Amino acid sequence: MSFSHFSAVIFQRQLVVFREALVLFVVVFAGMTGCRREAPPSFSPGPEVQELTKDLEDAEEIAIYEGLQRQIADVLRKTSGTPENPIALEEEETSDHLKLGYSVYAHYCTQCHGVSGDGNGPAAPYLNPKPRNYTHGVFKFTSTPYGKKPRRADLIRTVRRGVTGTSMPAFDRLSDQEVDAVVDYVLALSQRGELERELAMIAYEDEELPDEEGIQEIIKELLSPWQDSSDQIVMPVTQMPPMTDKSVLAGHQLFLEHACNKCHGKYGRGGTMENVEVGVDTWGNKAAAADLSSGMFRGGERPIDIYRRIYSGINGTPMPAFEKLFQDNPDAIWQLVHFIKSTGERRRQGKPPLSEADLPEASMSEKSTDAPTESETKSSGESA
Ligand code: HEC
Ligand code: HEC
Repeated sequence: MSFSHFSAVIFQRQLVVFREALVLFVVVFAGMTGCRREAPPSFSPGPEVQELTKDLEDAEEIAIYEGLQRQIADVLRKTSGTPENPIALEEEETSDHLKLGYSVYAHYCTQCHGVSGDGNGPAAPYLNPKPRNYTHGVFKFTSTPYGKKPRRADLIRTVRRGVTGTSMPAFDRLSDQEVDAVVDYVLALSQRGELERELAMIAYEDEELPDEEGIQEIIKELLSPWQDSSDQIVMPVTQMPPMTDKSVLAGHQLFLEHACNKCHGKYGRGGTMENVEVGVDTWGNKAAAADLSSGMFRGGERPIDIYRRIYSGINGTPMPAFEKLFQDNPDAIWQLVHFIKSTGERRRQGKPPLSEADLPEASMSEKSTDAPTESETKSSGESA
């Protein structure tokens, strides 16, 4: 693929982002000016609850499952309240803090993430990637190990910085109190969603719901991984070594050796360039391997952010965790970070990606030590 084609694709990407922003503006604006005197917002039943009565024909069976749907709604109203008067699962009643969370959410988040947090707001059909459906309790950008819940601080950071390269905006003008409140509201929606799924599954299997005590037990179990995650932060085993040509080249070597290129492409350009499809994510959307050279890191651009994406993988997506693989060679992850950083920097400076000729053949150390840093990159930039 030629270099001019490469920049044309970047330009196309920007057009797409622009078009999405325009559509979004229209949708959001229509939402604001439209008639607003409607019934108070309410949570709608999730797909698992709705499916309880799907394809039923027998009147008696329909009555049983409709009864169960009503019971689930009753339990959820008691444990989680309504959108305007929300209750956190570990609390008995609503609070001013969560009510503030609701009002921030209703203002800034509902159009994408939906009243129930199912990711189905009015703007969602126009967006790719889709806004997060919180109801699975799965979050992508965590500082915790693979498969673990996020820490509160992770969600605060995501809301503050936005998700670069997607429609998720950075809410950097909200006060600390507002961000705190909206994050607790998101957590409440998420845990409500998990409880709803669990109840739907029990109703489906047992044709009845547990008693009050049983439900309290389920809630306790459901909350425990959230509580555990607060002290499970992933910290690198070694400090980041300085970034040199040598570490970049070592990183590229590892990138190819450990088959990162299978999903992300040889130079990390990902699904955007080659249309690599890598499966479906937890939320049922098509996954695409990130373009690691775009300079837009969804999970944050600090070296530690990229380190954690590699170490812990990305929950809910095909991006695997490499914690075990690099157990005995912790610097390897830093070298991968260096390669990823460099591939994006070169692209932004208008330089072609590292070519195979730049890669050492047999021994890493020999070739890269005598590679002149400045002049080498300059000359390859001119050859583009
Ligand atoms: C214009 C649409 C839009 C708006 C408005 C929006 N989001 Fe998002 N949000 C997204 C998209 C899209 C993603 C998914 C990004 C991805 O999957 O990489 C997302 C993801 C998230 C995530 C998940 C991050 C993770 O680790 O998985 C959280 C939390 C979140 N948004 C919170 C909020 C909050 C809180 C608000 C309001 C203050 C908000 N969002 C407003 C589009 C939006
Ligand atoms: C099975 C396919 C697959 C393999 C193998 C894979 N990745 Fe990924 N990777 C993905 C997908 C898919 C995403 C995007 C996840 C999302 O945000 O939806 C991703 C995202 C990432 C991100 C996050 C970028 C951002 O926007 O924050 C980094 C960093 C990354 N991969 C590095 C690597 C490295 C390094 C390797 C090899 C050690 C690797 N990946 C192997 C599929 C893969």
